[in-house]
Amino acid sequence: MKKMDSNTILITGGANGIGLALAERFITAGNKVIICGRREDKLAEAKTKIPELHTYKFDVSKEEDRIALYEQVTHEHPDVNVLLNNAGVQRYLQLDEKEPWKNTESEIATNLDAPIHLAMLFTQHFIGKEYAAIMNVTSGLSHVPLVVVPVYNATKAGLHSFTLSLRKQLEKHNIEVIEISPPHTNTDLGAPGANTAGVPVEEFADAVMKGLMEGQQEVTYGWSQLTAQASRAERDEIFKQLNADY
Ligand SMILES: NC(=O)c1ccc[n+]([C@@H]2O[C@H](COP(=O)([O-])OP(=O)(O)OC[C@H]3O[C@@H](n4cnc5c(N)ncnc54)[C@H](OP(=O)(O)O)[C@@H]3O)[C@@H](O)[C@H]2O)c1
Repeated sequence: MKKMDSNTILITGGANGIGLALAERFITAGNKVIICGRREDKLAEAKTKIPELHTYKFDVSKEEDRIALYEQVTHEHPDVNVLLNNAGVQRYLQLDEKEPWKNTESEIATNLDAPIHLAMLFTQHFIGKEYAAIMNVTSGLSHVPLVVVPVYNATKAGLHSFTLSLRKQLEKHNIEVIEISPPHTNTDLGAPGANTAGVPVEEFADAVMKGLMEGQQEVTYGWSQLTAQASRAERDEIFKQLNADY
């Protein structure tokens, strides 16, 4: 990241997990941080923990909320120059079982529609700024799917692909585009306590800040570094091992 301080950063889904750990570090590094999420109690908890945070209640899976978020943030914080698309959900899904489409639609809307739409909205505000950046949180599963979360994998693979095109298209506007690809990390993603076998969130957040400071455009760590760099043959082998119990 070419500029690590004095930014105004909007982090979607910043009230807990990876988003909150990064919010904390960005504030310590001298940035203003705005977060958004659906649960008021989680936003209030985050604000109690870090009083400098600006909090907004919006559901980024909804088009009208994304537009309202963009309008409110750019109106109240016209200096906003960094968008961190972090909000995400993950669902276990058996594709041969009947399920209402709205559940899948909402997962795709949160993980893929939202970062794409917000990137397009905020690009309009970022063009012409001295420094601006868009960061997308993908996953090690962007490269090797975990079959029990099939739609999640697809959204993250899609976001990885979108990030590559976005970076190239925004080069001419001098807007930096960064991908943050976490490995399995101990947060409440999927369900509270579902990821205790993952990397501690503080450890991953420290690694992200280091990667950003070093100027990495694709910040990976541990398992996500392995999958991002693996050859096709290696990915096939990792896929077999990862899904051996299925
Ligand atoms: N943990 C892992 O193992 C892992 C691995 C790879 C990638 N990731 C990615 O890392 C990102 C952060 O996840 P996390 O692990 O920190 O999970 P988390 O602790 O569950 O945090 C997800 C955040 O997203 C917010 N969110 C979800 N849906 C939203 C919506 N429709 N509108 C606004 N906010 C929404 C949640 O707040 P509300 O529920 O209050 O809205 C929450 O603050 C996600 O994109 C995830 O896919 C995580």
